[in-house]
Amino acid sequence: MKKEWNLHFRQSFGTDAEVFVKAPGRINVIGEHTDYNYGFVLPAAIDRYMVFALSENKDSNHTIVAYDVAESLSFNPDIATVSASKTWMRYVQSVFVQLNLRGHQSKPVNCIFGGTIPQGGGMSSSAAMCGGLIFSLSEMNDWHLTRKQIALIAQAAEHGIGIKCGIMDQYATLFGKKDEVMLLDCRNLETAHFPMNLGQYSMFLINSMQTHEFATESEYNNRRASCESVVAIIQNKYPDIKSLRDVTMLMLTEHQSQIDETSYQRAFYVIEENERVFRLVAALKENRLEELGVILREAHAGMKNLYEITTPEIDFLVDYINNYPGNLGARMMGGGFGGCTINFVTQEIIDQCCSDVLAAYENKFGRKGEIYRLTFQDGVNVF
Ligand code: GLA
Repeated sequence: MKKEWNLHFRQSFGTDAEVFVKAPGRINVIGEHTDYNYGFVLPAAIDRYMVFALSENKDSNHTIVAYDVAESLSFNPDIATVSASKTWMRYVQSVFVQLNLRGHQSKPVNCIFGGTIPQGGGMSSSAAMCGGLIFSLSEMNDWHLTRKQIALIAQAAEHGIGIKCGIMDQYATLFGKKDEVMLLDCRNLETAHFPMNLGQYSMFLINSMQTHEFATESEYNNRRASCESVVAIIQNKYPDIKSLRDVTMLMLTEHQSQIDETSYQRAFYVIEENERVFRLVAALKENRLEELGVILREAHAGMKNLYEITTPEIDFLVDYINNYPGNLGARMMGGGFGGCTINFVTQEIIDQCCSDVLAAYENKFGRKGEIYRLTFQDGVNVF
């Protein structure tokens, strides 16, 4: 991989790269939209990467090349605002803006990046891009930023361009461990890694190839706002409550008359989803795999009926797997409005099941989905 990326770098800049970094995407087993409510999530880093090759540059500007789309961007290291209009360029600029704000001004760099995380697939290509870029710059400039610092700056970079995301994706890309899932407490940022023993079952993703970048951004932020509005109401009576993570079902029902119907449903979903993380972790550790399937189905129903973030395409894919003989369970994964589903079926039927679901999906929606069978990997690193 190093040889290949050095070649790409040489083709763009005419010299060898000095630093090579790869940043993984992630899956999430359970805990959707719980992270910005300071609750719990269960993601893992995967064998799909955003790759960076870079070196110091002798001009006065940074030049960043996006290999996959053959586009490049140059800007002054003093950058203080995001001005580009293309999404990848906005992410890149936002990273440099956030670093500058914290007093980490990079020497001018040449950088090329690209990779194998499908964009808009809900596998955190943006967190891998921001986290990987900051890690690369820290290496280049000898800043010795910690992984936690990098995750928080990467999150700030997303906030800087208007996506009020939680911290799950950044933590998954930075703190992933080979062959393990990671239970993350999104409040104190403590992690606990453990292997996910699936016995006779295997996991795979189905990408609906449906992306709603702009819808997702406003819908995402407005769900976060709903959650925060419920917390504000409950805080009047219970001032110690800091986020939905602290709210019990009893407290929520007690305030039902003061909360609008939509926000009530959303808060209901988040409180249940946070509990599902613990139920699923216990089921995994005690090897009660059937229970895992039950929880995934409940989680999907919550995202569909209460949080209202699924689409007909996604519901079709999930229902198809949940009715397939030999399935354990499936649900939508990630922020919503398209992207991937996460599925667990017995190893014996997986090949047949994958080809059947793709055929049925194309037949129904005229769109080709994609299947990903993934392994769990370590977080961002040099290579
Ligand atoms: C996106 C966000 C995360 C998280 C998920 C939903 O991936 O970036 O912070 O909120 O959606 O669980």
